[in-house]
Amino acid sequence: MKILLTGGTGYIGSHTAVELIRQGYDVEILDNLFNSKITVLDDIEKITGVKPKFYKVDLLDVPAMKKVFEEGKYDAVMHFAGLKAVGESVEKPLKYYENNVGGTINLLKCMKKYGVDKIVFSSSATVYGDQGTAELTEDMQTGVGITNPYGETKHIIEEMLIDVAEAEPKFEVTILRYFNPVGAHESGLIGEDPNDIPNNLMPIIMKVSTGEIKELCVYGDDYDTPDGTGMRDYIHVVDLAKGHVAAIEKMKPGVSIYNLGTGKATSVFEMVAAFEKASGEKLAYKVVGRRAGDLPKIFANPKKAKEELGWETELTIEDAMNDTINYLKHDAERQ
Ligand code: WQD
Repeated sequence: MKILLTGGTGYIGSHTAVELIRQGYDVEILDNLFNSKITVLDDIEKITGVKPKFYKVDLLDVPAMKKVFEEGKYDAVMHFAGLKAVGESVEKPLKYYENNVGGTINLLKCMKKYGVDKIVFSSSATVYGDQGTAELTEDMQTGVGITNPYGETKHIIEEMLIDVAEAEPKFEVTILRYFNPVGAHESGLIGEDPNDIPNNLMPIIMKVSTGEIKELCVYGDDYDTPDGTGMRDYIHVVDLAKGHVAAIEKMKPGVSIYNLGTGKATSVFEMVAAFEKASGEKLAYKVVGRRAGDLPKIFANPKKAKEELGWETELTIEDAMNDTINYLKHDAERQ
C-alpha cells in the first residue's frame, strides 16, 4: 500500500513514517517545512534504510498538490500537516482557519479527483473541550467549550470528514484523537524539534534543560489534583506512531474515531521529577498563575482502540524521558 504523509517531516509524521516503512508500506512525504527540517528525511533513512520521496509543497498550493497526486497514485493519505500552536491560534485565527481547514479542503478535493478514498486524520483531544469529567471517550459530544481556534480547526475538520464520508460511500475515514505526545525514537535521530516557540510542556522542558529557556513556568499548583498541578495523558510518540499502523490496517468504509492515549494521567510536577531522574540534573522552574483555558485533568479511555485496532500503549513516561534525553544528546552532537 502506498501512503502519502502530509506533514510527514514533523514530529508525529516522521515517527509514523518510520513505523510504516518498518511494516513494509511505501511512504511518500509532503511538507512545507514550516515547522520541520528536511534533514529528517536523512534520519528516517538512517533508521529504516529507506529515504521517502519528498515533495516540498504547501497544502494551499493547489496546482502543486495536483501534480503530487498525479505522480503519486496513492492508496491512502495520513494527514498530519497543520499549524498547532494554541497560543498563536488565538492571536491569528484566520491563519489557522486558512491553513488547517482550507488546506484540508484542498487535500480532500485532490483525493476525490485522483481516486484516493482512505484518510487517517491527526486529530486531538482538544476537540472534547470541557466535558466536566477527566476521562474522555469517543462517544462524547465534541466541539463544546473549545478554548482556541487551533482546537476549533481540528473539530471542524472532523465534521468535514464525517460529512464527506456520508456523501461518498466508498470513502474510508479514521480519526485519531491524540492526547499529549512526548518522547523520541530510541535511535535519538528524530524527536520533537519545533522551529517555532513551543507551547507544550515537554519541548519547553527540553529547552530549559539546554539553557535556551531560563526556567519552566508551572501554570498553577492550585488545581484539585494530588499535587495541585495539571494532569494530562502523555503518550510516547512511538506508541502513537504504531497506533497509525494499526489504524491503516483496519480501515473500513465510513468514519472510525479512536482515542490514542495511555489511559493514565500524570501531573506537571511528576513530569518534572521524571525528567530530572532521567537527566540526573535539577530542572529550573517557578510556579505562576494558571493558563487560560487549561483544565485540571484530562486522560483517554483507550478501550475502543484496544478492542477494534488491537493497539495499546507499551512505553512509559520513564521511556519517554530517557528517549528525550538521548535525542537531546544526539542533537547537541549534530550542532
Ligand atoms: C500540558 C500541561 C499545562 C506548558 C495542548 C493542545 C492539545 C495538544 C497537546 C496538539 C498543562 C502545563 C504547559 C508550560 C505548564 N496539542 N504546562 N507550563 O494544554 O494539555 O494540550 O497540547 O494536538 O491539542 O491543547 O498540553 O503541553 O500545553 O500542557 O505548566 O510552560 O503542562 O498547564 O497542565 P495541553 P501542554
